[in-house]
Amino acid sequence: MRAIVIEEFGGPEVLTLAALPEPEPGPGELTVDVAWIGVNFVDTLARSAGYRVPGLPFRPGVEVSGTVRATGPGVTGFAPGQEVAAFVTDGGYSEVARVRASTAFVLPPGVDLRTGATLPIVLPTAWGLLHEVGRVREGDVVLIHSAAGGVGTVAGQLARSGGAAAVYGVVSDLDKSEHALKSGYDRVFTADTFDTDVKAATDGRGVDLALDPVSGETFHRTLAVLARFGRLVSYGNAGLDEWQISRNDCTPMGISVGGFSILALAADAPERLREIAGRAFHAFAEGVVELPVSAEFALEDAAEAHRLMESRTTTGKLLLRV
Ligand SMILES: NC(=O)c1ccc[n+]([C@@H]2O[C@H](COP(=O)([O-])OP(=O)(O)OC[C@H]3O[C@@H](n4cnc5c(N)ncnc54)[C@H](OP(=O)(O)O)[C@@H]3O)[C@@H](O)[C@H]2O)c1
Repeated sequence: MRAIVIEEFGGPEVLTLAALPEPEPGPGELTVDVAWIGVNFVDTLARSAGYRVPGLPFRPGVEVSGTVRATGPGVTGFAPGQEVAAFVTDGGYSEVARVRASTAFVLPPGVDLRTGATLPIVLPTAWGLLHEVGRVREGDVVLIHSAAGGVGTVAGQLARSGGAAAVYGVVSDLDKSEHALKSGYDRVFTADTFDTDVKAATDGRGVDLALDPVSGETFHRTLAVLARFGRLVSYGNAGLDEWQISRNDCTPMGISVGGFSILALAADAPERLREIAGRAFHAFAEGVVELPVSAEFALEDAAEAHRLMESRTTTGKLLLRV
């Protein structure tokens, strides 16, 4: 089968097309004839910085859609030919993927394979951030960074449907604001001035809930615009920087800081992930959220997809086509 392999970390050019043996499903696993592959920011971090990469050579790709090819020992509820979307832990950028049955999902009625590849990571992530960790409530004012990207597009809509009174987004360039304004956001600010803009928009009060996939300075500036009893959920380090706080950063205003990792959830608590994914997919099937695909590439052009994502000009979701 054809698959993308990384032999060394670096720019998009290190994504190389290789011919590999087709995988067989082990106990509790499925193999999937892949139709579409979701491109995630974490794939670019894995390629360039070795983020969550156990060693080289490495095969990137954490989500696919396709048809079940074979089921391994002990698998129930799946049969060859069924259309599924799934998390992948060992190389989704492939013609055939080996996935755990516990983190594969039969596509909801009316959802086609192309759309299905957009769902496994983004939908449960946005749901988990807002409803499980962030505990969004009726009337909350919500601030979401990377508002026009995959997670941001869905999070804006889920915040709105979760009862938020106002949803503010942050982007690096206002060219992306039109997309965000169609995705549940009331106003969109740029990263350089978001903190003063948020204070101005809320008459100095700040926000009840903020979602931060950037970390570093962005995290600290976001902490500073939380309202009393505000919650900040940190779920990424796109800025390749960390954060650190002390008790005194939280106690005076009664602030909570939380974290979230969909990949850790998939690895450690697949039954909890299924629950969250079930709710998120239901919202999608009901039309509560939309996730437009803004670009698609052939599998062999994965490097082009990474270049585009790293240009910070994309909105919505990027896909690879097998
Ligand atoms: N913890 C989890 O479970 C989890 C799950 C999924 C995704 N994530 C994180 O959520 C974020 C969105 O993921 P996605 O796959 O949907 O990607 P995406 O949002 O479609 O694209 C990447 C986003 O990162 C922002 N960005 C790129 N380079 C940056 C930099 N150097 N500093 C700050 N921001 C930068 C861009 O927004 P602007 O250019 O507008 O700033 C862009 O929206 C990523 O940071 C990802 O790692 C976390």
